[in-house]
Amino acid sequence: MSEPISAVDVIRTKRDGGELTDAQIRWFIAAYTRGDVAHEQASALTMAVFFRGMTPRELATWTDAMIASGTRLDLSAVGRPTVDKHSTGGVGDKISLPLCPLVAAFGVAVPQLSGRGLGHTGGTLDKLEAIPGLRTDLSGQGFIDQLRDVGAVICAAGPDLAPADKLLYALRDVTATVESIPLIASSIMSKKIAEGTDGLVLDVKVGAGAFMRDRDRAEELARAMVRLGADHGVRAVAVLTAMDAPLGYAAGNGVEVAESVEVLAGGGPADVRELTVALAAEMLELAGVDADPAAALDDGRAMDVWNAMIRAQGGDPAAPLPSAALSHVVTADTAGVVSAIRAMPVGMAAWRAGAGRSRRDEPVSPGAGVVLRVGVGDAVAAGGALAEIYADDEAHLAAAVHEFAGAVALADHADAPGSRVLGRVTA
Ligand code: URA
Repeated sequence: MSEPISAVDVIRTKRDGGELTDAQIRWFIAAYTRGDVAHEQASALTMAVFFRGMTPRELATWTDAMIASGTRLDLSAVGRPTVDKHSTGGVGDKISLPLCPLVAAFGVAVPQLSGRGLGHTGGTLDKLEAIPGLRTDLSGQGFIDQLRDVGAVICAAGPDLAPADKLLYALRDVTATVESIPLIASSIMSKKIAEGTDGLVLDVKVGAGAFMRDRDRAEELARAMVRLGADHGVRAVAVLTAMDAPLGYAAGNGVEVAESVEVLAGGGPADVRELTVALAAEMLELAGVDADPAAALDDGRAMDVWNAMIRAQGGDPAAPLPSAALSHVVTADTAGVVSAIRAMPVGMAAWRAGAGRSRRDEPVSPGAGVVLRVGVGDAVAAGGALAEIYADDEAHLAAAVHEFAGAVALADHADAPGSRVLGRVTA
């Protein structure tokens, strides 16, 4: 008979730099999911992992145990190839909104099970729910039916999809253990593998507004996730993308939906369109479709799928988006050329305005957020508008205006912004 496993031994082994056995990992994840391991023990283990890391074998077993904590969906009834995308999180990152309908316009199904925002990075579900009437709590059958009939779904994951991640992610968020390569890789890949998608494009953000601040760490994370996908029969490609500046001009919920609709109508900010098209091209390639995704933004096919997706989820795509009660225009103290826009203060301002939450059960404001009035390279006069901040009350507005300080750098000249796409990692 094997020795009983104790949580304290598992924590001590990792704390001291040892390697956990498969049995220890599987036991710990299952026992924590059942409630037999205390939150403080799981938090000690995640902190030990944060400092000591995991070997590739430990990471593979840990991810497998997280998938096995719930059920793995079977999407074979959809009758189309399935490809999803996941971003490691950034400011103004609304790409899923135009991307899902765009890829679905080519006959591919996009089963996007998304999360909510916490901290300075927004959540896709919070953004989509700014649309009046829209529901994100679909039933399992409703999810499959919509994937088959419309091709695009953006909804909440059910309680049985990688429940270990729901517990661990909430715990990591309040114990400063989010920015760990094995913990991020296992969190993302357990959900995406359990979701049942055939292919997956990972948008790994690099820069001051991302969890991975430097390129080497972002590449390491990308390689770990692509390998986990391959181990579980999910074809995965990672694209490294810049997250020093916010994506587009809008950060918030309704304001990001409005900007996404501009992209779906063939316009919108150049960087949002560039990244949407680049990720769509990767997704179509994984699905075996040879087509130019940009064409479907310009000829209305992607917009048709968007309208169908919103209606299928109970929303009215033509309804006006909610607006906040108050707004404040931030102006330039001096004249100059915009040389940088920093993602972190913009994300923090949107969060403080009410677009994000600091507790999981807090409601978010659909109208709150930030809309930049300038981009890098624009000349501004003294007193000229840099951004407009929206909030529902004075306290939120004042906090957001305070956070925004220093978001826009002015200088004598500015370098032209480079491509958002920095590199690619494949199996
Ligand atoms: N997104 C996730 O789903 N998990 C992480 O750990 C980080 C970003």
